[in-house]
Amino acid sequence: MTTDPADTSATPAPAAAGPAAVREAVSCAGLTYAFGGTRAVDDLDLGVHEGEVFGLLGPNGAGKTTAIRCVTTLLPVPAGTVRVFGHDAARERMAVRRLLGYVPQQLSADGGLTGRENVALFARVFDVPRRERAARVDLALRAVDLCDAVDRLAATYSGGMVRRLELAQALVSAPRLLILDEPTIGLDPIARTGVWEHINAVREATGMTVLVTTHYMDEADQYCDRVGLMHRGRVRALGTPEELRRGLAEREATDTLPTLEDVFRDVAGSGLDDNTGGGFREVRSTRRTARRVG
Ligand SMILES: Nc1ncnc2c1ncn2[C@@H]1O[C@H](COP(=O)(O)OP(=O)(O)O)[C@@H](O)[C@H]1O
Ligand SMILES: [Mg+2]
Repeated sequence: MTTDPADTSATPAPAAAGPAAVREAVSCAGLTYAFGGTRAVDDLDLGVHEGEVFGLLGPNGAGKTTAIRCVTTLLPVPAGTVRVFGHDAARERMAVRRLLGYVPQQLSADGGLTGRENVALFARVFDVPRRERAARVDLALRAVDLCDAVDRLAATYSGGMVRRLELAQALVSAPRLLILDEPTIGLDPIARTGVWEHINAVREATGMTVLVTTHYMDEADQYCDRVGLMHRGRVRALGTPEELRRGLAEREATDTLPTLEDVFRDVAGSGLDDNTGGGFREVRSTRRTARRVG
């Protein structure tokens, strides 16, 4: 294995696994990350297959952001291993970074720059070769349908446009793995659909792998090939949305297909009741308890 300062190759290395193995874009084994006494990520095992859209789902505080920050190398890997296309995130950080685009949960676009300037900045930071930069910036902006707004300050954009601009920033380096943390949080339904459609269009055109976190279970159901339901630092259930929903229907012997949210409540069990509360957790767990008792 090469260490990062020496590794200047821009071409992705083959995965460490043998040729017959399923190609894993991301694999985490025993990943643990604690903030003081809080185990945000607790012995997490996770595999994201090459080419799929994988959704890491869970309520606030489940550990989603911490886990993906370890994958992006923004946080160290204190315990366990994280590999991105076979590269060790702890020992080959630059090689990992070259393979991925990242849209963080917090705002990453600069309102004082135009759309084009924002994307051009990322092209420089991510080392897109100078002679390719202008074309790649245009391509990324076109992919998210922002051509008409490229010369306006990002401060004038709507929420959905800002999210698409951030998507363009992450796409400009032509990543093999796109990581998005809550890409649709706070957007209205039309803007949310727009963001997903652009993600899917780029995925179809390039075959890139997408790892996305969300607490919108309905979106994950619609757009993710597979999902991992995360609760208290660990993935508690994994599969296609269909598999998970059918699995619960069989366990509960019901005719109506449960939602992913129902599946989540089922795997998280009573653990959802005693947390810091909020959102669907309280409502749904209350309803569930009522149903169990009733
Ligand atoms: N910088 C931090 N310092 C201390 N605790 C943190 C920090 N970031 C996250 N945590 C804690 O780690 C846990 C997981 O948080 P996070 O990974 O942000 O979850 P999610 O993205 O699923 O909402 C939470 O209990 C949160 O309070
Ligand atoms: Mg988060």
